[in-house]
Amino acid sequence: MWEKSVGVTAESRTPQRERSAVFAAVGAHVPSIVVTNDDLAARLDTSDEWITSRTGIRTRQVVEPGGSTSDLAIAAGMAALRAAGSDASIDAVVLATSTPDRLVPATAPAVAAGLGLAGVPAFDVDAVCSGFVYGLAVANGLIAAATADRVLLIGADTFSTIVDPTDRATAPLFGDGAGAVVLRAGEPDEPGALLAFELGSDGALAELITVRDGWFAMQGQAVYRQAVTRMAGAARGVLARTGWEPGDVDSFVGHQANLRILRAVGADLGVDADRVHTNVTEVGNTVSASIPLALAHAHAAGRIRAGHRVLLSAFGGGATWGAATLVWPELS
Ligand code: UT7
Repeated sequence: MWEKSVGVTAESRTPQRERSAVFAAVGAHVPSIVVTNDDLAARLDTSDEWITSRTGIRTRQVVEPGGSTSDLAIAAGMAALRAAGSDASIDAVVLATSTPDRLVPATAPAVAAGLGLAGVPAFDVDAVCSGFVYGLAVANGLIAAATADRVLLIGADTFSTIVDPTDRATAPLFGDGAGAVVLRAGEPDEPGALLAFELGSDGALAELITVRDGWFAMQGQAVYRQAVTRMAGAARGVLARTGWEPGDVDSFVGHQANLRILRAVGADLGVDADRVHTNVTEVGNTVSASIPLALAHAHAAGRIRAGHRVLLSAFGGGATWGAATLVWPELS
């Protein structure tokens, strides 16, 4: 049996050491080259109508040739550190990515050094599109165990470097980007504290999303079905651990793979459509960056506000899935 789900709640931690990771700042960065559906239709057997109706995606942004995940991660990390203000002393950097600059070494140490944080522990986490939620759980663990007081967590990917530009089945789906959060030690019941997680994987589904001969490959319809089932299941699990009903959720930020998937998960859960946040239309599927980018964009636009009960849920290659909850804090 390959499958195992785990969950942790604030209550399950050692009572004498009640520390939670608390959101202190968010930041985002997308590269400047915009690729429209018409740009793709000019070189592939596809159309704006097909891409928009099947995925909701209208544009995506990609790095220049030679651009790397660390470039984007450093820019998003810098934005989050600036938003965190002058007391932003960071003592660990966690990078969620599936497109590291190199296979070895990990990319996080280079990102830390690029941010002027050489010396702090830095490492990569790879759970593909669930990577940011897994990263949140790892950062929460570092803080809860008092290994770190302030963690910079970045989700960054450059799938344009592994997607076959001649493959109409995958080329329209992905964009490059990075999103970052500063997490600080705080009280489990204060706004911004991570309240609960639900994480899982099933290695029997490894062939659904993979890289073959250097190019990304995906069994689209099977992934679609799994994404809806697993994202809704993980969301239900984390809501139960948090003690919330679906109707309590003010903001649902799911992994931004496909507008239809996000709407289906919202409907399956019973979360009102106007509480389902999306930016996949503008940025496509940015993999590990998807949830932090969506959070940063929704925060900047005032769509997620202080006091909102926020539900995060993701599904990705592995297969992996994960969900988390928090109450959105006052952030600059
Ligand atoms: O981040 C990891 C998670 N990823 C996802 O969640 C993605 C999940 N999957 C999906 O979002 C959808 O499966 C896709 C958007 C990838 C595809 O949509 P679909 O409705 O499942 O289409 P399909 O794969 O069943 O293909 C339908 C038809 C096929 O043609 P025939 O066999 O019916 O003649 C495809 O060849 O559409 C064709 N097709 C296209 N046509 C025009 C596939 N890609 C394209 C395209 N333009 N870009």
